[in-house]
Amino acid sequence: MTQALTKRRPGGARAGASPGAGAALVIRPVRRGDLDPVIAIDATVTGLEKRKYWASIYRRYGAGDPSERQFLVALVEKRVVGFVIGEVRDWGFGSPPCGWVFAIDVDPQARLGGIGTRLLEAISAGFRRAGVGKLRTMLARDNTLILSFFRSQGMMAGPLISLEMDLEG
Ligand SMILES: CC(C)(COP(=O)(O)OP(=O)(O)OC[C@H]1O[C@@H](n2cnc3c(N)ncnc32)[C@H](O)[C@@H]1OP(=O)(O)O)[C@@H](O)C(=O)NCCC(=O)NCCS
Repeated sequence: MTQALTKRRPGGARAGASPGAGAALVIRPVRRGDLDPVIAIDATVTGLEKRKYWASIYRRYGAGDPSERQFLVALVEKRVVGFVIGEVRDWGFGSPPCGWVFAIDVDPQARLGGIGTRLLEAISAGFRRAGVGKLRTMLARDNTLILSFFRSQGMMAGPLISLEMDLEG
């Protein structure tokens, strides 16, 4: 999937934030060679470099049915600038199958240029091809950036709540 990367809000205060407006944005399934930049983007965002975790995510989501399990990367001028990961979950919590996004990250240098939006559109298109009509995600309550992003995409509070407890011993 190749699209021209243009700022969606001409003249906006954030114009120029995108990495080379007009450059081609490519969104495609991850390849093994993309893992280093993916790990680097994640480490920039979370402060932790998790090589084993990413190798395992690649094995689980980088291969197999591309519409049920998706690990997509965004590239500008052949450089990985973002990624999104998700899967179709069948009947979780009694709900009909729906698409879950559990990670989306854009390189801080490449943000506010529409790349996050394109990644979410691409994974949503894959979920629709898999036959699901609902998109869900989970996020940290204090992560206002990701909340603003998902709200801007039309996502709203859903019918599920998360619960947790410490496991003793
Ligand atoms: C959230 C994220 C993916 C957005 O990527 P992006 O490429 O900058 O997103 P877009 O340019 O498509 O922005 C779409 C909309 O999101 C909202 N948004 C994005 N960044 C925002 C910010 N810093 N403040 C407020 N709203 C913001 C805006 O409504 C924006 O639309 P606008 O530019 O017309 O105002 C990116 O900021 C990121 O990777 N953040 C860290 C994510 C994270 O914490 N991941 C860990 C948990 S999975």
